[in-house]
Amino acid sequence: MTFRAQHLLGIEHLHPSEITTLLDLADKYAEDNRKGRAHRGVLEGLTQINMFFENSTRTQASFEIAGKRLGADVMNMAMQASSIKKGETLIDTALTLNAMRPDLLVVRHPHSGAVDLLAQKVNCAVLNAGDGRHEHPTQALLDALTIRRAKGRLHRLSIAICGDVAHSRVARSNIMLLGKMENRVRLVGPPTLLPSGVEDLGVEVFHDMREGLEDVDVVMMLRLQKERMDGGFIPSEREYFHRYGLDAEKLSHAKPDAIVMHPGPMNRGVEIDGTIADDINRSVIQEQVEMGVAVRMAAMDLLARNLRAARGAQAAGVMV
Ligand code: NCD
Repeated sequence: MTFRAQHLLGIEHLHPSEITTLLDLADKYAEDNRKGRAHRGVLEGLTQINMFFENSTRTQASFEIAGKRLGADVMNMAMQASSIKKGETLIDTALTLNAMRPDLLVVRHPHSGAVDLLAQKVNCAVLNAGDGRHEHPTQALLDALTIRRAKGRLHRLSIAICGDVAHSRVARSNIMLLGKMENRVRLVGPPTLLPSGVEDLGVEVFHDMREGLEDVDVVMMLRLQKERMDGGFIPSEREYFHRYGLDAEKLSHAKPDAIVMHPGPMNRGVEIDGTIADDINRSVIQEQVEMGVAVRMAAMDLLARNLRAARGAQAAGVMV
């Protein structure tokens, strides 16, 4: 087994073999989940705390379900009701929680880099559930598993990531993961929604959907992240849908068996036509949610093994 990381903070520092190890294990968990087989011994005796400083539906729910299926004691901190509202800093909150000796800390935060900072202050495994526009590693991993299962491989595929790339941590993590696994990544969107200097990431850039989708294997749509916009990035939602919203006509430029993905939450009629999102022959959006649980189980399982090994070595007085 090759998975050496202590934390899962981003895709950036993962080796391709670590990605494969994690996806292989997640694939097994996905099959067992379908059979209703739980593995409560894996995280037995471990405490998992979920700290979400930003709204979340699927990520928080799937981390909770993943922890429970593996037998962890899971606690969801209600961050809206916490001392943060009374002016406590992120680090003070983290140190307070750390003193309660958790084993796994799952953190979502609106500021890029906040989760990395927190990981330096605690002595448990930290999983990044999305930090600002920076990274969302478990989303990229669940997307990768969904693609691998649908296409039978995760290399030499042509993948278009479309829409609001500039504000998207999902896009950043996916660009890195898909690049590491030797796929061809295209970014498609209006110039205002593509980050400057993006060509340096080894991607091709398109401003026209039909050109960008030509012959791709995977079409990954992104939500317009209005909460991260501080000005007029698009003329109007109607105009945006007309030019960049995924509908049957634009999708017809992709390969006939191309799959459609979206991390959720979706804005129907803005970045995607509802009928495409619901088309079970093309859309794998529900499969993405399903793989989310399996990937988070695999991530916490692997980190817990490393945590136990490190603690065991520490107890035995060995330097690791
Ligand atoms: C994404 C996120 O929060 O970054 N959602 C998710 O985790 N499934 C994408 C988004 O909010 O648009």
